[in-house]
Amino acid sequence: MTQPILVTGGAGYIGSHTVLELLKAGHPVTVLDNLSNANPEALARVQELAGREVAFCRADVRDRAALDGLFRAQPIHAVIHFAGLKAVGESTGQPLRYYQNNVAGTLTLLEAMEAAGCRNLVFSSSATVYGDPAALPITEDMPLSATNPYGQSKLIIEDICRDLAKADPRWHLALLRYFNPVGAHPSGRIGEDPLGTPNNLMPYLLQVASGRRPHLSIFGRDYPTPDGTGIRDYIHVMDLARGHLAALKALPELPGATAINLGTGRGCSVLELVAAMEVATGFPIPRQFAPRRPGDIASCYADCGSAERLLDWRATQDQGDMCRDAWSWQRLNPDGYRSQLTKGML
Ligand code: NAD
Ligand code: WQD
Repeated sequence: MTQPILVTGGAGYIGSHTVLELLKAGHPVTVLDNLSNANPEALARVQELAGREVAFCRADVRDRAALDGLFRAQPIHAVIHFAGLKAVGESTGQPLRYYQNNVAGTLTLLEAMEAAGCRNLVFSSSATVYGDPAALPITEDMPLSATNPYGQSKLIIEDICRDLAKADPRWHLALLRYFNPVGAHPSGRIGEDPLGTPNNLMPYLLQVASGRRPHLSIFGRDYPTPDGTGIRDYIHVMDLARGHLAALKALPELPGATAINLGTGRGCSVLELVAAMEVATGFPIPRQFAPRRPGDIASCYADCGSAERLLDWRATQDQGDMCRDAWSWQRLNPDGYRSQLTKGML
């Protein structure tokens, strides 16, 4: 399997780990990224780890001419579409920016693909499309809803993909609904590098563990869960990266637009994740209980049966692995990619 793959948003967190796996599997890879939330150092390190080169195009996914140029340059077999804005809170304050970037970006990409005759897409959807789930574990056929513009943008894109598949059976679209991606490549060379104060639990926890922030605020201790804290399905980013390769492989067999959960199938509370991080670091993590965060749900974890059946994929790494690898990344790169730059790329 060595078809050329275009990866939008490939310099970002999940994209960079996936590009590495694609390169290791022998695919020629082109990355299109506007670097709005990424550092080109990530791709320099991906090349170093893979011992192979990535073709990089710094452009916006809404730039139709740039996309047409990439499709003209070589026959692209499939596109993995990560490019998008992802901060839930920010999306509530800037809905137009989110719809413009995420929805208009995807429309432009799909039009360019159609024009080029490339009709294979793997799309980054999210468990956020389940809103407050009616039951657990979450299966793909459960009702969909959005509680913020970010989630709504994912739902709109999923609908566009479903309409496209209905209109033209030549399209194959995998709508991968990620649960909570965390962790880093085991080398500690690439990982998540958030700008400013992290919103998500794992990057915040890492900054507390490294002494950059005094304590973790645990949002809510009165949820109807065994220890009272929120439960999520954290998935190791390397498992997730492998999930994309499995989706690419299965794409020709997938009917139309197929939604598939990518998680571990196991719920983990905030306190359990903190405990796993304490094991990984070897010291206690200062924490305080705080009120619930508005909009948070109590529990969310995946039924991964579709991924096993359709992709022959399952997650292999647990919270211990996630915390170990995230901590190596944090320790080796206290300032993320700004810590030390690799020569020679971009
Ligand atoms: P990220 O911000 O690290 O990566 C996104 C990349 O897309 C960045 O490199 C950014 O520079 C680029 N980008 C954004 N808008 C662009 C545009 N208009 N044109 C070109 N490039 C653009 O985020 P991530 O965590 O790697 O997430 C990747 C995808 O997965 C996103 O679509 C996100 O919504 C989705 N997702 C992420 C999570 C998560 O918790 N990280 C969960 C579910 C779904
Ligand atoms: C996890 C748990 C918090 C921070 C978000 C998006 C979702 C998806 C993944 C893109 C919750 C608790 C958190 C902190 C805490 N992204 N927490 N203290 O909210 O499940 O999902 O990222 O698609 O759309 O909403 O992830 O990491 O923010 O929170 O106690 O400082 O950690 O309350 O229970 P979430 P998270």
